[in-house]
Amino acid sequence: MSEPVRFVSRGQVVTVAPDVPHTMTVLEYLRTHLRRTGSKEGCAEGDCGACTVVVADAGPDGKLRHRAVNACILFIHQLDGKALFTVDDLADGEHLHPVQQAMVETHASQCGFCTPGFVMSLFGYFKTHEKADDSSLKDALAGNLCRCTGYRPILEAGEKMYGGGSEDRFSPQEAALLKQLSALKRERMLDHSTSAGSFIAPRTSAELAETLSSLPQGENWMLAGGTDVGLWVTKQHRLPRSIVYLGRVAELQQITDHGDRIEFGAGVTYTDAYQSIEKLHPAFARMVRRLGSTQIRNSGTIGGNIANGSPIGDSMPALMALGATLKLQSKTGTREMPLEDFFLAYRKTALQPAEFVASVTVQKPGPTSRIGIYKLSKRFDQDISAVLAAFHVTLDGETVTNARLAFGGMAGTPARAKQAEALLTGRRFTPDEIEPAVLALADDFTPMSDMRASAAYRLLAAQNCLRKFCIEVSSGKTISAEAAE
Ligand SMILES: Cc1cc2nc3c(=O)[nH]c(=O)nc-3n(C[C@H](O)[C@H](O)[C@H](O)COP(=O)(O)OP(=O)(O)OC[C@H]3O[C@@H](n4cnc5c(N)ncnc54)[C@H](O)[C@@H]3O)c2cc1C
Ligand code: FES
Ligand code: FES
Repeated sequence: MSEPVRFVSRGQVVTVAPDVPHTMTVLEYLRTHLRRTGSKEGCAEGDCGACTVVVADAGPDGKLRHRAVNACILFIHQLDGKALFTVDDLADGEHLHPVQQAMVETHASQCGFCTPGFVMSLFGYFKTHEKADDSSLKDALAGNLCRCTGYRPILEAGEKMYGGGSEDRFSPQEAALLKQLSALKRERMLDHSTSAGSFIAPRTSAELAETLSSLPQGENWMLAGGTDVGLWVTKQHRLPRSIVYLGRVAELQQITDHGDRIEFGAGVTYTDAYQSIEKLHPAFARMVRRLGSTQIRNSGTIGGNIANGSPIGDSMPALMALGATLKLQSKTGTREMPLEDFFLAYRKTALQPAEFVASVTVQKPGPTSRIGIYKLSKRFDQDISAVLAAFHVTLDGETVTNARLAFGGMAGTPARAKQAEALLTGRRFTPDEIEPAVLALADDFTPMSDMRASAAYRLLAAQNCLRKFCIEVSSGKTISAEAAE
């Protein structure tokens, strides 16, 4: 039986029309079905932020959790059981929301395309921060592009919006909203079908495994955050037979600290993983801060980055350097493998039909570990890497006892530099002694040229990252400001 999809908006439960196809985005639904046209489409690929909305649900602590996300690559069925806030919802009649009022007072309201998105990113910030600070405010707005160069007054609005405190007209209604959301909890998995296809949302790993094994042949997609999958619909106009949504599978959303290692469920978003990633190493957290934008990190998952198998995905080299292992699961059971063995060839992984990534486990670095992670991209924020270099050496005094050097952007898959690693092991980790290993990167990799970088640039940049890491370790100083990485 086809189940209705329900979410909360303006204090009311909205039931999505039964004939709405499983690939309709929240943005399209808002504009064409609800006729709420404040949210705009700029790029339809998660890049410009014009479509930003805020989604709320109950977090692990039972409190309301607000997240700014890109409505253009979020499917309406993903909203099931959640609350939605759009730019059309903020003002109370003639009374502007503090975010809107601050935008007016700082002359930050500019063109009608970008402004709604800026307002909603600021609203997402307002609902998650008690006050503004320059660095996190810039992070919150890094996924919103303005082509007319008007960022300064928008940042000022971000400071000013707290003039009346950190509460707004929605704050007193949070307990009631939580109750409403709790009433929308499902007793069984969502299965919403139309003539176009099905949207299925299992609630446990066992249900997921069963669902995947029972699907008939055809194009069936697993969907986590949709920051890759969403573009298959909006840019490639593909229509899957079924979408199996992983966002409700309880086990996939868990982070477990096992003492010497941390296990991330594959469906954990970058935002939710951030604190644990910071515990693993601050360089890893700094890199994640530059992965996509706040909106992308609020939706995108670690498992999605891995399963997508892109040679330029950012998390893989860092995870490989930290000795990550994957748990894969299907109806027949689970199996584990080192992350590097998962990538077989360009966009080809070891995942079998009806199998999914359940979790990734990362060893906590020991006291003799030294770690460096360098993201090289043309733009500091919200840009895909030309090269991602992640290094982890274990030292006995100055001597390397173990080396893990992993790269993105250097081959058809994220990969370790095995020849360079062998040449480091047993040697002193000093700039003159590592030079054979630096040069061996040319034997490990034959990078390609594309619009992000030439092959020659990629190789030289990878070599220089290793040189820089060695100087940083042996001198105990950080060479570059983050902005120069
Ligand atoms: C504007 C923008 C900026 C971006 N910037 C970056 C960046 O800086 N660095 C970077 O690395 N990436 C970036 N990305 C890509 C994307 O955000 C990441 O790859 C993200 O981690 C994908 O996760 P997701 O949950 O959204 O995956 P989805 O889009 O839901 O899925 C991606 C793929 O993985 C499969 N999948 C997902 N979860 C599982 C699972 N548990 N088991 C098996 N298969 C699964 C899906 O079927 C699909 O094939 C960007 C994307 C956008 C749109
Ligand atoms: S329309 Fe550009 S991010 Fe959604
Ligand atoms: S606000 Fe739209 S281009 Fe600047």
